[in-house]
Amino acid sequence: MNFHILTLFPEMIEQGMHTSIIGRAIAGGYLSINAVNIRDYAFNKHQKVDDYPYGGGAGMLMQAEPVYLSYEAIKEKIGYRPRVVYLTPQGKVFHQEMAKELAKERDLVFLCGHYEGIDERVLDEIVTDYVSIGDYVLTGGELPAMVMMDSISRMVPGVLSNQESGETESFAGNLLEYPQYSRPEEWHGQKVPPVLLSGHHANIEAWRREQSVMRTAKRRPDLLKKADLTNKEWSQVRQ
Ligand code: ADE
Repeated sequence: MNFHILTLFPEMIEQGMHTSIIGRAIAGGYLSINAVNIRDYAFNKHQKVDDYPYGGGAGMLMQAEPVYLSYEAIKEKIGYRPRVVYLTPQGKVFHQEMAKELAKERDLVFLCGHYEGIDERVLDEIVTDYVSIGDYVLTGGELPAMVMMDSISRMVPGVLSNQESGETESFAGNLLEYPQYSRPEEWHGQKVPPVLLSGHHANIEAWRREQSVMRTAKRRPDLLKKADLTNKEWSQVRQ
């Protein structure tokens, strides 16, 4: 997966994306991160990238041309029109299934706005997906782009080791993950649930499933309607 990020602050992306699992995946050739400075495509005297909005109003807008030229440079380099995600609180709210779906692309472009936004005309021409990471407003699209790249990367084959595999974790089957424990067996007077020490795999699986279902019912009841529960599980969560 090749990520291309159009931004006025490429150093934010460079600094944020080279550690831990993502750093290892870049080093291993499973991912690449290409942060493109939109300002490098502002061919005016002071490399200006913003201007006042027509009709008045607060703040400055990013102008269409430098954004367009930076996108065109990527398109020329890769030889086709890639999907372009524009990070905006006005987009569809990001979720795990979207991460899985976007992970199938060979290249993905993230367009990060700053200030009051971007001239609508260039958005109309190049953006394929308007995406929000939640109902709150941030100062720019860089953090949302990094959030999306992190979760998309985990869905790219080879990025996670078998041990880290996403099969059983939260949102698999629209349930939250069960609680987990490591040594010591007792900490601050709290004991590890005995079933986990029993070595009885079927019982452990059953206990984990029940914990997932009950935890989802308590913390994220909105997810349950999409989860595949047995009749018995439904009656348990209704109690
Ligand atoms: N830009 C500013 N706020 C945002 C949000 N919540 N999601 C995506 N992009 C944003």
